[in-house]
Amino acid sequence: MYRTNSCGELRLAHLNQEVTLAGWVQKTRKFGGMIFVDLRDRYGITQIVFNQEINTQLCDQAIKLGREWVVQVKGKVTERSNKNPNLPTGDIEIIAAELIVLNPSDTPPFTIEEDTDGGDDLRMKYRYLDLRRTAVRSNLELRHQMAFAARSYLNERKFMEVETPVLVGSTPEGARDFIVPSRMNPGQFYALPQSPQLFKQLLMVSGFDRYFQIVKCYRDEDLRADRQPEFTQIDCEMSFVEQEDILNLFEGLTKYLFKTVKGIDIPDFPRLSYADAMKRYGSDKPDTRFGMPFVEIKDLTTGKGFGVFDSAEYAGAICAAGCASYTRKQLDELTDFVKRPQIGAKGLIYVRYDADGSLKSSVDKFYSADDLQKWTDRAKAKPGDLLLVLCGETEKTQKQLSELRLEMGARLGLRNKDQFNCLWITDFPLLEYDDELKRYFAKHHPFTSPKPEDISLLETSPERVRANAYDMVINGVEIGGGSIRIHNSELQKKMFSVLGFSDEQAQAQFGFLMNAFKYGAPPHGGIAFGLDRFVSVFAGLDSIRDCIAFPKNNSGRDVMFDAPSAVSQEQLDELHLKIVRS
Ligand code: AMO
Repeated sequence: MYRTNSCGELRLAHLNQEVTLAGWVQKTRKFGGMIFVDLRDRYGITQIVFNQEINTQLCDQAIKLGREWVVQVKGKVTERSNKNPNLPTGDIEIIAAELIVLNPSDTPPFTIEEDTDGGDDLRMKYRYLDLRRTAVRSNLELRHQMAFAARSYLNERKFMEVETPVLVGSTPEGARDFIVPSRMNPGQFYALPQSPQLFKQLLMVSGFDRYFQIVKCYRDEDLRADRQPEFTQIDCEMSFVEQEDILNLFEGLTKYLFKTVKGIDIPDFPRLSYADAMKRYGSDKPDTRFGMPFVEIKDLTTGKGFGVFDSAEYAGAICAAGCASYTRKQLDELTDFVKRPQIGAKGLIYVRYDADGSLKSSVDKFYSADDLQKWTDRAKAKPGDLLLVLCGETEKTQKQLSELRLEMGARLGLRNKDQFNCLWITDFPLLEYDDELKRYFAKHHPFTSPKPEDISLLETSPERVRANAYDMVINGVEIGGGSIRIHNSELQKKMFSVLGFSDEQAQAQFGFLMNAFKYGAPPHGGIAFGLDRFVSVFAGLDSIRDCIAFPKNNSGRDVMFDAPSAVSQEQLDELHLKIVRS
């Protein structure tokens, strides 16, 4: 037997037991005639003591142990005279009687402890060593617990896990596909699935009724903190349901995860229409851990001789409570923040509502105290508050104000990682118009059903059609999204035509789906959660990378594997591929 116990489980209750532990040497310290070794495994750390007076030979062996050597130790559990309250096993230590080196180790490139000295790149290159660190491993433990709990919740409710293919056909909608050349079909390619969307809908046609899959999806997108080229969805689909059924069941799943994994009771989720979310927060994934809603003041700003406001389509303000005392430097910082190219505002206007009730603004030249009072009244500002105002084209300005709101929320410490605010965003527009390509795109995907009452608008004003689509948002992160689907081949055909597909193109790309719909497709709908995002919100992480065992870096590279990489000429020849270098 390699071990009788793990390195995390021994307590005073085990006193005087003879035990065998196995693990990695985290640290060795020599203190007079004693050698202390911190032995680590997945479950914790236990202190092993080698005593010169008891066994000199054993001590000679122990002193040679290096960091990360794999060893087996036999000994007796004893009470520590110098207890360590920071360690669950800190009341005991093992007096070693036998030591076996199972495998020595090279000196690791960084220290494998809570606070490591390794930089990001080095830790990614040696990810298998970084994964030995408790902080990193605990994120993966959390991920396992969440996936396991989700499976159990869905299984209890008769959802069936079905695996769908990873080599699929390329579809033009959505993000860019990763493509895979087919050796047996020269010049032809598979794509890796961006999601199992079409397959899960076909499973509904097959009568599976309730499907789920914890599944890898692949999208060749630009990477951000909340995006990886391969990520995992908890993907679900149900038949004979309406939007309300789906929202209730998956709100239930989310509450269940919070309760079982984090012990937190989450109240019923508020619901906000897309239109209201944009108006109040300038975002379809608002962080509702704090208020600071937008206040529209265009009507109060026009006609006072200030051209910037007069010519603007929209003027909106947020009220930062208690910030009237912001210094010139702080206000300049905020102005620089909104003027950054990523945000793109031309400038920032402020109104200080001083504690004594006086009002000072960066546009005093154009607006009297009475004018400014109207702005602050509408924003329900109190003495001591600061009003921050942006103006310009409506959608653009709302987005900029949204960034400013999030920045202020962060500066004021209102984005507490231990607080969880969940909500549904509903009534998304079905379509969005691409000015450059001069055509409509599906906002969610082309299989999303329009609201029945809006179908007649498809011909006349497609941009006004609302969808039976919904997103789940937690703390400003889009955790999941889904919709009720079109299950009628005629309506699906019409949708493709609005999206600019000819009948032939629609038939070539999605003919199998439209055909399937002719054979008794039930009404159906579903949702997919981004598991990586879900876990990172639960763990309060800044990047989803930290809850993925082997993530890609910002350039989409696996630095450990050194992938992607060139392949041999033989491989290329077999695949009938020629590399053309420009
Ligand atoms: P959608 O494209 O909204 O919907 O994706 C669902 C959820 O997947 C997560 N997600 C990502 N996570 C990490 N990296 C990425 N690159 C990434 N892209 C998406 C998000 C998102 O909310 N088939 C539909 C679902 C449906 O209609 O049922 C779909 O894939 O958390």
